[in-house]
Amino acid sequence: MKIFAIEEALNRLNAGEVVAIPTETVYGLAAKIDSKAGIEKIFSTKQRPFFDPLIVHVSSKKMAETLTKDWSPLADFLADHFWPGPLTLVLPKAEHVHGMITSGLESVGIRMPKHTLTLGLIDRVGVPLAAPSANRFGKTSPTTAEHVRQEFPNQDILILDGGACEVGLESTVLSIQRQDSQYQLCLLRAGAIKKSDLENALASKNFNFQFVESAAKGQAPGQMKHHYMPEIPLVLVIGKTNEADILHQSQRQILQLPDQIEGVKIIKPKKFETLRRLELPNEATAAARLLYSELRSVSQTADLDLIYFLIEPHHQAEDWKAVMDRMTKAASLILDSEMGNSR
Ligand code: TXA
Ligand code: MG
Repeated sequence: MKIFAIEEALNRLNAGEVVAIPTETVYGLAAKIDSKAGIEKIFSTKQRPFFDPLIVHVSSKKMAETLTKDWSPLADFLADHFWPGPLTLVLPKAEHVHGMITSGLESVGIRMPKHTLTLGLIDRVGVPLAAPSANRFGKTSPTTAEHVRQEFPNQDILILDGGACEVGLESTVLSIQRQDSQYQLCLLRAGAIKKSDLENALASKNFNFQFVESAAKGQAPGQMKHHYMPEIPLVLVIGKTNEADILHQSQRQILQLPDQIEGVKIIKPKKFETLRRLELPNEATAAARLLYSELRSVSQTADLDLIYFLIEPHHQAEDWKAVMDRMTKAASLILDSEMGNSR
């Protein structure tokens, strides 16, 4: 069955079609980087704006090197250390990488996913695969094949079923630039590989590097404030409050939001009567694995108007950074009972 699916995936990719692929982070919607038709199909299928660049997936370091003008010793070290795994390296792009993939930027995001099915497929194709997460633009990323099916119900998309994603959140995105003799590292997206993991790994080497805090303008497109949104509003709650108050405050504030922010439709329920608390494990890795699937299943509950999540002190820890980043972007509102309301 799987062998057949790989053959079919190969045929479709070669014909300029898209194929949904499993990775350890989330499912991706893939096309060959040398297929203009395939790349266009990624954007049209996802209804994704062209300003949001795609990550290119490779099955070997050698393949990664072909995509960049500057495969530096530091990039090589991080690839050895963290690949295959949830780390995307943003490096100066090679000439042949199409501007549609990079949104016209001079850099390209590259990663080697940790999933045997997908690594095998890329090997067979022999060409890197561009793949954003396999969800409609702005929506919750899929962590199972069934989620991908739900995202694109009326489209004939081949989905390679590789089981539930082990990590559950998108990769860490790290930009590497060389300035004079120093490497400038910038974390563009939080993920399972934390800043301290990178620092610990680099501590064993003598690279001259520094982390720079904020990306230069235009360096980090696709960092929209509203992303990963479930089908009914998610409200983050800080401090002591009660459910009646959450409903009341949410109704007042969500109805005042614009209908659309950064191209993402803001969902406004007709009534604010029923709500459900989103519960996640106390341990961050387990919470990351479950976040998207829980958001999906809770938002499919019949007759539910609102989901809320209580932010607790332990969510401030570095381990929770990626989960809280996604949670904040998925939220329509943050209610802070002590500080007044934000967002
Ligand atoms: O875990 C992942 O990274 C998943 C799986 C499928 O590999 N992919 C994923 O792709 O999350 P996507 O399209 O949902 O997110 C891509 C993001 C962009 O929105 C942008 O923030 C960053 O990666 N990115 C990609 N290329 C970049 C570049 N050249 N410069 C800056 N940021 C870039
Ligand atoms: Mg995405």
